[in-house]
Amino acid sequence: MQIVVDSERLSSELATLAGFTHVEPSPDGTAVTRVVFTDDDLKARAWLKGLAEAEGFSVREDAVGNTFIRWEGTAPELAAVATGSHIDAIPHAGMYDGTVGVLGGLEAMRALKRSGVKLRRSLELVLLTSEEPTRFGIGCLGSRLISGTLDAARADGLKDLQSKDDETLAEVRAAAGFIGPLAGVKLSSDYYYGWIELHIEQGPLLEREGLPLGIVTSIAAPAGYRFTITGFGGHAGALLMPARKDALCAAAEIVLSLERHALATGAIDTVATVGTCEVYPGAVNSVPSKVVLQVDLRDTDPVRREGVIAAVRKDCDALQVRRGVTITEEIVNADEPTTSSAKIVALLKSICEENGTVYQTMVSRAYHDTSFMAHVAPVAMIFIPCRGGVSHRPDEYASLDAIALGTRVLATAMSRLASE
Ligand code: GLV
Ligand code: MN
Ligand code: MN
Repeated sequence: MQIVVDSERLSSELATLAGFTHVEPSPDGTAVTRVVFTDDDLKARAWLKGLAEAEGFSVREDAVGNTFIRWEGTAPELAAVATGSHIDAIPHAGMYDGTVGVLGGLEAMRALKRSGVKLRRSLELVLLTSEEPTRFGIGCLGSRLISGTLDAARADGLKDLQSKDDETLAEVRAAAGFIGPLAGVKLSSDYYYGWIELHIEQGPLLEREGLPLGIVTSIAAPAGYRFTITGFGGHAGALLMPARKDALCAAAEIVLSLERHALATGAIDTVATVGTCEVYPGAVNSVPSKVVLQVDLRDTDPVRREGVIAAVRKDCDALQVRRGVTITEEIVNADEPTTSSAKIVALLKSICEENGTVYQTMVSRAYHDTSFMAHVAPVAMIFIPCRGGVSHRPDEYASLDAIALGTRVLATAMSRLASE
């Protein structure tokens, strides 16, 4: 069987998908903002379903918009072999994060179909809803619901952080045409025979080593928190400094506390970020009365991660007394690390060795839907290098050769698993 990836078509589809965005062109590269359930996201989904249907693949959508594109095998009663990723993009992102896994997965299935091979197991490409936390504050929304680790009622009550009217996921998904109970999104623990996600590395290691491919053996454990700091606002001229309980000044101390304690572990795998800061009332001549910080904390070692947040909480206790503010904390998510399937990792290694592809096994420090698909399948990931290790920026770039190689290895691995 010869698997021939149509690189030109894949490249043009990646460019088309990057066009579903409302961001103006950036001098740094192709800027993409595609927030879940916006018009751009819905148009991109419709376009992608059209590509799948043109190929004769069937399409199913669940209540949160996870989209399952299936090529039926000769034994459709057997668990399918699946791949997939996401097409949503954070504000002012690049054009490869997630999309390479979705369009590469589609091309892997098309390449296998073109080869004439008849596979026993069905193949599925899954477009997972809202891997990015931009709109609802929690990442991997679709795959969390598939895994059953996110309660359906809690999910439907998640607030749309971009809406002024406190809309919920229940309202937003219904407006986007996705109805029905979220509890029905969960899949059984043996739903798929195997799951492999193709993704850009989003870090510098493969490029630095001059390697074309990485095989992910584990994914670091992410956690998210929301800190609300309530102080005492007032007129920026008239409220005298000794009387102030400035919520933003207190928030600044929390940001620095997080940085200090993350650095203090001495571990390269501990990373902490405060990526959003909402200031109320948000006027230049008004003392901030309330601040909401979204905190992203990750580690390969979840115990070490818990140590960092515990130290930050202690600082917050002291801060409340010293600055007279109130600090409340919400744990958005605190996930476990993920271990890839030894069998799928061995399969990917042997495919690389047969093809003479030099690879490296590696840890993913970024999170991925694969962490949650691990609840319904044995999993692994294929990484391809990206220029300078840059991601979540318009200058994110992966070469077509790298994308085609990843797609070929993915197709080969899916065909081997689907023949079992
Ligand atoms: C995924 O986008 C992540 O933040 O790791
Ligand atoms: Mn991302
Ligand atoms: Mn991604």
